[in-house]
Amino acid sequence: MSEQTENNHVVLEARGVTKHFAVRRTSRDLVAGRRRTVHAVDDVSLQLRRGTVTALVGESGSGKSTVARLLAQLYPLTGGEIHLGGQAVKAGRGRSFRSYVRRVQLIFQDPFASLNPVHTVRYHLTRALKIHGRAGSGDEELEQNLTALLNRVQLTPPHQYLDKFPHELSGGQRQRVAIARALGADPQVLLADEPVSMLDVSIRLGVLNLLRDLKDRMHLAILYITHDIASARYFADSTLVMYAGRIVEGGDSETVTQRPAHPYTQLLIASAPDPDRVADEEEQEETGSGEPPSLIDPPAGCRFHPRCPKAMERCRTELPPRFDLADGQWAACWLYDGTAGDTTTGDHEKKVAAK
Ligand SMILES: Nc1ncnc2c1ncn2[C@@H]1O[C@H](COP(=O)(O)OP(=O)(O)OP(=O)(O)O)[C@@H](O)[C@H]1O
Ligand SMILES: [Mg+2]
Repeated sequence: MSEQTENNHVVLEARGVTKHFAVRRTSRDLVAGRRRTVHAVDDVSLQLRRGTVTALVGESGSGKSTVARLLAQLYPLTGGEIHLGGQAVKAGRGRSFRSYVRRVQLIFQDPFASLNPVHTVRYHLTRALKIHGRAGSGDEELEQNLTALLNRVQLTPPHQYLDKFPHELSGGQRQRVAIARALGADPQVLLADEPVSMLDVSIRLGVLNLLRDLKDRMHLAILYITHDIASARYFADSTLVMYAGRIVEGGDSETVTQRPAHPYTQLLIASAPDPDRVADEEEQEETGSGEPPSLIDPPAGCRFHPRCPKAMERCRTELPPRFDLADGQWAACWLYDGTAGDTTTGDHEKKVAAK
């Protein structure tokens, strides 16, 4: 098997990606000669691998959707680089942008908003196939391709769905149509921005299982954006945790969710109900609370320090780099300074437990 077709090889990569948005200037800003920016995403590096789901977890406003939009090339970067298939991607329109979009597809949270209410399922899927040159020649081939797309998202029998309008479908069925439309491009990467958070709890699992099936059968690289760290454990191979525009921890999902190293991840886990984990009261008290910071004027040093129950003096002024822990886990937290190179699992477990 060639490197290009092997699972786990990096398909899409962000290197030091940064996005600052200009804030509209108030009269006070004009008087002060001040230009303010929202530091939505700062120095984010991540890799999406073939046949792998990567979760990006964080609370509201932490910059998750901005990362997805940057990866989809919907916004120009303030800084950093994006590489697709090992090649640096140049911002652009026209043919190179179309070829990028064919390979990297975005799925949104609200399928009702992303499908046009006046058009049928057939229209949406035919359009996607035609735009990406995959409609085939002639009506018969088009019909076969439409049927194949609906089968792939488990809307069966397909003829029952093809001529339906979005309002005639349930939320889960609409999201499946949105996924089928994305598959119409035959992409390598799916960026799924909270794909199930608008759906009833009872049907979320079905849609996540569908995405997992696509990962396995079509070897897609999937970015799964969510607030819900418990679903990352269930669904994603690896998990990245984002706080106030920066990624603060990463590793395989089991390790990050069962042995969170960063105090912010510990806070997320402590506030997420997980039947497998019974947190004692002391743990609850030690994980901190409070509100996320302003991204216009983010805290110096570690952005989590104002909320962190374990903050030390240097956390207020020095930005923590990434410290590698055992088993591929890492955390951007000064608690782990000095543990670099200390890769024996036992020691790491002791250290995480002791913090
Ligand atoms: N187009 C924009 N112009 C200005 N600020 C923006 C823009 N888009 C996002 N922001 C700001 O960037 C920050 C990150 O927003 P983003 O939507 O990426 O967060 P999120 O993690 O996806 O949040 P949620 O979980 O609520 O979807 C927020 O402070 C937001 O207000
Ligand atoms: Mg969002």
